[in-house]
Amino acid sequence: MQSITVKAPGRINLIGEHTDYNNGFVLPAAIQKAATITITKRGDDQMHLKALDLNDELLIDSFASLQKSNKQWANYIIGVIVQFVKKQKFSTGFNIAITSDVPIGAGLSSSAAIECAVAYGLNELFGLGIDKIDLALMAQKAEHEFAGVQCGIMDQFASLFGKKDQVVLLDCQSMEYQYFPLQLEGFTIILLDTGVKHALASSEYNTRRKECEAGVQMMQVKYPALVSLRDATISILNETVDANTNPLIYNRCKYVIEEIERTLAATEDLKSNQLLDFGKKMFATHEGLSKLYEVSCPELDLLVEAVKDKPAVMGARMMGGGFGGCTINIVASNAAPQLIEELTQLYEVKTGKQLQHYIVSIEEGANVIK
Ligand code: GLA
Repeated sequence: MQSITVKAPGRINLIGEHTDYNNGFVLPAAIQKAATITITKRGDDQMHLKALDLNDELLIDSFASLQKSNKQWANYIIGVIVQFVKKQKFSTGFNIAITSDVPIGAGLSSSAAIECAVAYGLNELFGLGIDKIDLALMAQKAEHEFAGVQCGIMDQFASLFGKKDQVVLLDCQSMEYQYFPLQLEGFTIILLDTGVKHALASSEYNTRRKECEAGVQMMQVKYPALVSLRDATISILNETVDANTNPLIYNRCKYVIEEIERTLAATEDLKSNQLLDFGKKMFATHEGLSKLYEVSCPELDLLVEAVKDKPAVMGARMMGGGFGGCTINIVASNAAPQLIEELTQLYEVKTGKQLQHYIVSIEEGANVIK
């Protein structure tokens, strides 16, 4: 095989936000928007990378000259290649051409889609036999080392492991996972894109991670066996972190501890088709992300507030890392067109910005197209 074309999708996350790097649970699914790449073997050791959507390219001379580029799009690819090179040698160089319809900065994991497409494609084309969990970890490492975001494993996992019409409950501590069909008869998942791409997203993300670790350290004074916020409870938090002297750490930990518990309870709601209860938990997650974890922004808050009392909307919340991007909404299908129209108008009046929306369909994770 000389050439391969693969597709790796972006993702939604139904609930379980900022829990993955705290060893908690997440409930993502892969969506119809995806990165598509073609990799072709070369007769030499060079790598020619092409971003078709940007009409930009980068030529890398040899495996020895792989390094961070000033082209950000290329770093997602180079970051993954480097992880492979750490493990084994490629027999030849290759060309990579990439295109994607995952909107950038919308909280749909456009970067993970690229990383996973590259990881999945290289593994297949060169017959390397690396299993999908390791591919996810390699893609995550690329994000850490080449994009500077200390992300958890959710996005890369969802992009590689997604299944059509199924959501997956992932335990980020054990990496055990469980699929179940998403039954939303009469309801549609709609993403409302604020169009806000906050410059602080990556630095604040890394700060949240550190704040959680600081909380864990405070708890470990009394509970040395506690490894992550997954092992904590609200009563441990109350015993070990003083809300008056350390309000920030207290609030961050409170949100995460509650969200881990909420994700498990919400999963049960979803499995038993208790959409109303599930939706209430989505709103509660938003409240926590906004007030305690402080990763929302006025535009996201506005969109959630606007649907809160609408009977057609079961649940809504900001989704992903935050500071911009999308809200995820579960909406009665027959009310969806009118709701979208109403919100688009409201959003423009209140913010002067154009609201984009995406109707979600749940699709397969990374796969070979040809
Ligand atoms: C980003 C990260 C994920 C996860 C979410 C928040 O998408 O890449 O690992 O932490 O934010 O849930």
